[in-house]
Amino acid sequence: MNITLSKKSKIKNVDFNNLPFGKIFSDHMFVCDYFNGKWNDERIIPYSDIKISPSARVFHYGQAIFEGMKAFKSNDDNILLFRPDENFKRFNLSSKRLAIPEIPKNIFFSGLNELLKADQKWIKKGIGNSLYIRPFVIASEESINASEADFYKFMIICTPAKSYYENQEIWVKIEERYSRAAKGGVGFAKASGNYAAQFYPTKVAKNEGFQQIIWTDSNYHDKIEEAGTMNLFFRINKELITSPINDSILDGITRKSIIDISKSMGLDVIEREITVSELLSSHESGELKEIFGTGTAVAVLPINGFGYRDKKFLINPKSNKISIDLKNKLQNIQYGITESFSEWQYKVS
Ligand SMILES: Cc1ncc(COP(=O)(O)O)c(C=O)c1O
Repeated sequence: MNITLSKKSKIKNVDFNNLPFGKIFSDHMFVCDYFNGKWNDERIIPYSDIKISPSARVFHYGQAIFEGMKAFKSNDDNILLFRPDENFKRFNLSSKRLAIPEIPKNIFFSGLNELLKADQKWIKKGIGNSLYIRPFVIASEESINASEADFYKFMIICTPAKSYYENQEIWVKIEERYSRAAKGGVGFAKASGNYAAQFYPTKVAKNEGFQQIIWTDSNYHDKIEEAGTMNLFFRINKELITSPINDSILDGITRKSIIDISKSMGLDVIEREITVSELLSSHESGELKEIFGTGTAVAVLPINGFGYRDKKFLINPKSNKISIDLKNKLQNIQYGITESFSEWQYKVS
């Protein structure tokens, strides 16, 4: 791989205690181009603007996919990734659905490794600190013909991150008017357009005092699916419930990890459909103990309450919250503090 290191690092201008999410980028990026029917010219170069034609199909038809993952630094200075194999699999699953050529595993992993080595000083120690990694592919072909492209760019960029929503009350709105995804659609993929389509409904929800939306099924809006960038868990009595994965829900890596961690703690975790009426009745009876979201950006995020048809429902703040325990257990794995689930750790070397 061709590696060109930047002559001057931007790092000394960055206040790592005051990081806006996703606005500051590390010194380097990985780039690779698809042409002649294969991925070519893998390279690490200084982070910079790219040259692209205004007719590139990505601008017109949104043929683009991405991933979100994090690198952590252990106390003994190892750079750790959390289950990157899962991100790689999901990347290619998303690509396939969007008719984008899949990325070979060696290109994905050598790109990641070399980039993280080049930018390792951007990964700070301490729980809560991480380098958020954004691999993505765009259709770069100069053509506005409405079909899949013959040329693409695969890139990886990185932004230093703190925990999202730290110390904020989180309220979520159960959405009945708009849909995030439909059966047979692209909801299971990290297709860029899925996120663009959420911006307007989320903006409306934010104006009503919510941080995120709980998406429901697009047919009847009664089955709970997931939140904007998180999968959801509901603790009703002793059961910890999360919706089963289907083609309108993203198969979250944090979700599947939390299921396994919960099982190892002896919790009664179950993947089954949960309806809005069950949520309302369990709230009414006091059996709803807790709701939390899971995702790379937030790890595990306790939710304070939810809104449904002009009413707001506070989740009993006094009921004990296992989400705190789950978050600690997850982070201990991510930062290499514990030996359990060490098979999920990937050391950059
Ligand atoms: C729609 C959606 N659901 C769930 C998640 C959580 O997935 P993961 O745990 O793999 O980050 C994300 C974030 O990536 C997301 O964008």
